[in-house]
Amino acid sequence: MPFHLTDEQLMVQAMVREFARKVVAPTAMERDRTKAFPAENFEKMGELGLMGMMIPPEYEGAGADTISYVLALMEVAGACASTSVVMSVQNSIVCESIYRYGSEDQKERFLKPLASGRVIGAFALTEPQAGSDPVSQSTTAVRDGDAYIINGTKRFITSGKNSGLVIVTAKTDESQRHKGISAFIVEKGIPGFIVGHTDDKMGLCASDTCDLIFEDCRVSADNRLGKEGDGFKIAMKCLDGGRIGIAAQSVGVARAALDASVKYAKGRNQFGQPISKFQGLRWIFADMATEIEAAAQLTLAAASNKDRGENYTVQASMAKLFASEMVNRVTAKALQIHGGYGFTKDYPVERFYRDARVFTIYEGTSEIQRVVISNHILKDKRKL
Ligand code: CAA
Repeated sequence: MPFHLTDEQLMVQAMVREFARKVVAPTAMERDRTKAFPAENFEKMGELGLMGMMIPPEYEGAGADTISYVLALMEVAGACASTSVVMSVQNSIVCESIYRYGSEDQKERFLKPLASGRVIGAFALTEPQAGSDPVSQSTTAVRDGDAYIINGTKRFITSGKNSGLVIVTAKTDESQRHKGISAFIVEKGIPGFIVGHTDDKMGLCASDTCDLIFEDCRVSADNRLGKEGDGFKIAMKCLDGGRIGIAAQSVGVARAALDASVKYAKGRNQFGQPISKFQGLRWIFADMATEIEAAAQLTLAAASNKDRGENYTVQASMAKLFASEMVNRVTAKALQIHGGYGFTKDYPVERFYRDARVFTIYEGTSEIQRVVISNHILKDKRKL
């Protein structure tokens, strides 16, 4: 990996690689079949500092940089993509938004349990009629004394069922566009907060995705994140970090697919020799490895921008766009290399192929990433 990594970053990578291979990977196939949420993994990951990696130790986080986080996420994703998406949402969107925009009291009450992994968090922005266009959301939060009354339905919420708290966006002022959207930290178990339908998905089966329904749900005004009207910007800013996470996840799954394919091709004999000897396959391996490396470099570059405190919106979108499309090509090739066996559940590549499919969709589709990148090039004229 040509990107210069410090000794500390390499140490994090080695530690998480060992954990992912020994603890997470062996049960991934079974988890995919049973759809069981890996709560026990998150307990251990919390102890290792993987659930609030970029949060300072004073709030029970690991105080790591984004590059270390990206390296860790790549390792976890290679072992189990379902586990990695929960880790990604927890770190990039939930912990980061409370750390960046929360009050001291909110950090004490909510960030510490999240960063230590004692509580799983979710982020509820998407709605049945507002996916790529979150400004058109219809969930409302109406001020009532020292509280807000939230009404509406959120859809496709990662960890919606298994989380202990959810950051929910809602309109506080219908007359304003994005400036009329606010964010709230809503704890599970309060009246009017209902976990709805859980989606039956083609991949990421051990990570729950569900509807969250709010019916006259009364949330204290102390739980509002940032100022009234800050919700859309908080979501966009944290989604930038989330997109770096999905890019890292893509690299991790693609590496696992390449490793599995190389292993298979070396052991599979046809026409009197291992199929890895055929040039037709060797060139496919070369293309897979090159694409994976390019995606890894883009992802690390975006992480590095973030660590330097520079704007990283476009870099995050480019990394997410390229890496998520790359992993779909790579896993398709990996399945083809495995032949008929690749189509069975005896080998992990069919799971990689299914898990990767949503990477070009969630946290902003490929089309939305192209909107972000082209807006930047054509309108903003900022230096890349
Ligand atoms: N950082 C900071 N501010 C930003 C921003 C960013 N990345 N992007 C936009 N903004 C600001 C703009 O500057 C603007 O503010 P001002 O008016 O003060 O200048 C404001 O937000 C509105 O910007 P736009 O007019 O560009 O907004 P838009 O409505 O045209 O939408 C968009 C822009 C990029 C298309 C955006 O809507 C978007 O990213 N859509 C995709 C949403 C998405 O990713 N959803 C996934 C949800 S999470 C998930 O997948 C589930 C999960 O649990 C993992």
